[in-house]
Parts: sequence; C-alpha cells; structure tokens
Amino acid sequence: MSTDKVTNVPVHVSMIMDGNGRWAKERGKERVFGHFEGVESVRACVEAAVENGVKYLSLYAFSEENWNRPQAEVETLMGLMVKAMADEMDKLDSNGVRFMVIGNRARLGDSLNRTIDECMERTASNTTLTLVIFLSYSGKWDIFQAASKMAEEIALHPERKDEILSAGVDGFDRYLSTAGIPDPDLIVRTSGESRMSNYLLWQGAYSELLFVDTLWPDFRKEHFRAALETFAKRDRRYGKVK
Ligand code: FPP
Repeated sequence: MSTDKVTNVPVHVSMIMDGNGRWAKERGKERVFGHFEGVESVRACVEAAVENGVKYLSLYAFSEENWNRPQAEVETLMGLMVKAMADEMDKLDSNGVRFMVIGNRARLGDSLNRTIDECMERTASNTTLTLVIFLSYSGKWDIFQAASKMAEEIALHPERKDEILSAGVDGFDRYLSTAGIPDPDLIVRTSGESRMSNYLLWQGAYSELLFVDTLWPDFRKEHFRAALETFAKRDRRYGKVK
C-alpha cells in the first residue's frame, strides 16, 4: 500500500455499506456475522478518514426500508449500533470525532434515542472529523419532511412566503435533515451493486459515485485510500464546460 499523501481529498465521503449478508453466507454463517464484521470496517474507515484529512464521513447504516427485514435481524442491528456507540465513544471523543445520527428518529426506541443524544452532546464541539450515521433514513423521507417543514413555516408566516420561495433550491437545504453538512463529494457503494437505494437523493445530485466489488466486511483502510485515489482523478464539471 502506498504511503504517499493522497491529494485532492474529498471533504465529505459517504459509504453505502452493502454485502454483509453475502459475506456471511459465503462462510456458511448467519447474516448477522456479516454485520458484526462490518463494524470492523466502520472502525477502519473512521481511522482512514482521520488519517487522510477527510472532514465528514457518513455511513448508510439502516434505511427506512430495512425496517421490513426479519425482526430478529433488525433487533440485532439496533443492538449492534448501541454496543458500538458505547464501546467506541471514548475513543471517538478523544480523537476529536463529532458523532451525529440523522434519520427518522421517531421510529427508534427511547433508549436508543437517549444513547444517541448523549453521544451527540458529548462530542458536539469536536472538529477533526464529523461522523454521520444515517439511521432509519431514506432520501425520499428527507425531501418529504423538508417540504413539510417549509409548508408549515409558510402557513405560520404567510407574509414571508415570497422570501422563503425566492431562496430557491439553495434555501431548501436548510429544511433537510442534513442542514449544515456539506453535500457528499464521493459516495462509495460496496458489494458490486450499482444503485442509490433511496440514499442521499437531493444531497447526492453532484456526488461522484464509485461502485466497488468488495463486500463491506472486507472493506478496510487500503480500500478507503484506493477510493480517495480514484476520486482524485475524477473531473468534476457540475454541468459546466471547462
Ligand atoms: C447491508 O448489507 C448492511 C446493512 C443493512 C447494515 C450495515 C450496518 C453495519 C455494518 C453496522 C454499522 C454499525 C455502526 C456503528 C454504524 P446487507 O445485509 O444488505 O448485505 P446483503 O446485500 O449481502 O444481504
């Protein structure tokens, strides 16, 4: 593995972590083993992000659609998140990581929401890396809740309607659940699947997309670094000519 500094590092890298079930199946194990090993990949990516100067790392950990998985798998995944937060928070905090969870939190239990709030408050002023876990998230949910908030604001303050609407698409950002977080420069999906799966549909409008065959539980620092190197070679034009 090269140890040279990667240049043109993206500010925000986002990961669609996929392939845990297949990784476990290949080994004749239950799907949840893939999720357990996937936590190691999360750890590796956080370390790699800090080492390479990435400022925002976001992870699609659980989609709104994932609630439809068998209850036992959902419970295992939620338990895994709570355990990972409890186990890792000291280390994350001492390394300057700000921890955030974004998603439809009304669907999470009280105890998980309390743990999340504690971790977010504790790390709120850290500045080395912002780690965003998208939990019970979907892109359509986010756009819908943003539109609902905007409609509510206009209903409450009809005199501000023109001002709110004239702020246009950039003004709409502030209603999204990701307000204040820069849009992802790079979205990486593992396991050979090439789709967005209802992820950052608004925020990913101009993200560079990278689909890699590696299954998430096998994804480690060298894969993260390789993704940064691929990004560095991309030519981003945002619809303009150069
Ligand atoms: C997709 O693989 C993976 C998930 C739905 C869960 C990802 C969650 C983790 C790795 C735990 C994250 C923990 C923290 C602390 C953020 P899949 O089950 O869809 O795999 P398959 O496509 O092979 O069936």
